[in-house]
Amino acid sequence: MAEHPAYPVGLRLTGRRVVVLGGGQVAQRRLPALIAAGGAVVLISPEATPSVEAMADAGEITWERRRYAEGDLEDTWYALIATGDGEANARASAEAERHRVWCVRADDADQATAWTPATGHSEGVTVAVLTTDVKGRDPRHTAAIRDAVVEGLRDGTLVARHHRTRTPGVALVGGGPGDPDLITVRGRRLLAEADVVIADRLGPRDLLAELPPHVEVIDAAKIPYGRFMAQEAINNALIEHARQGKAVVRLKGGDPYVFGRGMEELHALAEAGITCTVVPGISSSVSVPGAAGIPVTHRGVAHEFTVVSGHVAPDDERSLVDWPSLAKLTGTLVVLMGVDKIDRIAETLVAHGRSPQTPVALVQEGTTAAQRRVDATLATVGETVRTEQVRPPAVIVIGEVVNVGPPAERTPTPSRPS
Ligand SMILES: C[S@@+](CC[C@H](N)C(=O)[O-])C[C@H]1O[C@@H](n2cnc3c(N)ncnc32)[C@H](O)[C@@H]1O
Repeated sequence: MAEHPAYPVGLRLTGRRVVVLGGGQVAQRRLPALIAAGGAVVLISPEATPSVEAMADAGEITWERRRYAEGDLEDTWYALIATGDGEANARASAEAERHRVWCVRADDADQATAWTPATGHSEGVTVAVLTTDVKGRDPRHTAAIRDAVVEGLRDGTLVARHHRTRTPGVALVGGGPGDPDLITVRGRRLLAEADVVIADRLGPRDLLAELPPHVEVIDAAKIPYGRFMAQEAINNALIEHARQGKAVVRLKGGDPYVFGRGMEELHALAEAGITCTVVPGISSSVSVPGAAGIPVTHRGVAHEFTVVSGHVAPDDERSLVDWPSLAKLTGTLVVLMGVDKIDRIAETLVAHGRSPQTPVALVQEGTTAAQRRVDATLATVGETVRTEQVRPPAVIVIGEVVNVGPPAERTPTPSRPS
């Protein structure tokens, strides 16, 4: 019978009678999609699995607790035959044929008049995969193809650009700390759909290499400033490209709202009347210590962690950080942008009461192949940064959590397979 490949079609089942014979595992797997399609589903089976029973209890299907009987498939649009009784399956299948009801048979695909494709959903479409090799049907292979397509669409490795629904505007995307696997699924998808990407120096630069050639990639650090400040120049570039009707991604390191000037860009775009979405990212403040084996909290050791910018020294009048109060805390202090000022930061913390023996770890270029960890104490960190030539970008962790990992974690090896 099955000499030709199946003809793919989408059944519109809303309000139409669908009969499912058998309440076991097959029904349990298939029922949710039949319910989602709006079918008037009648389950005919003496027994059902607890999950199927729950669907009946919830009123999602009608359950007739009995065996199949001749006539059950009258006025039916679609039937799924999945009882454990081969003889009943054959009788039901013959009835389906007489009534011209498309019928799936769980026990004998050759006798069926319809096959269920491997399905998945992404971005508002259903991906359905059917084999064309009717003799050598390989359901695991079709399922693997389905998974590859759906996963690819979700994470942006498979690019299918929207044409009608794609809206121009700007997405501020947090790219995570650097490892290209650590961007969010949404961020990656937006990146895959972008016409223009304005990227920072930090973040997942490797992803830029994967973009198709028509995508314009602009290095934010190289935007000519002219008489503007750097940030204004970036804001203007975002606005200009969005006004040309392009989909613009502003790719940032970590999270856009953690020392990322995300809100400044959002305000500038709002003032220009440009739609903007913000996609959170994994901040380096937590992920980079983690990649080097340091949890920012640990039971019995640190019940708090504070993330501070160290870009201006503690005695600088522009500093908004209350360093004397931070020195009195017992928890973890995470300092970003602090490599250049770490000796003055350490001195200030010690001067206001933190022990000079407090452990410190500096994690440079975390989550990248160049990741490196250097350990010190508050008393020695200034000198260590110089002798070990620690360079930005680095996250500095101050507190006892530095020493709670297994000793092997404290060696400066990359956390990421190269
Ligand atoms: C301007 S801040 C941006 C922070 C970012 N928005 C975030 O959430 O991670 C830049 C600082 O973040 C830290 N940083 C970002 N990525 C890093 C990485 N991969 N390794 C070490 N430090 C990093 C460094 O302290 C760097 O100086």
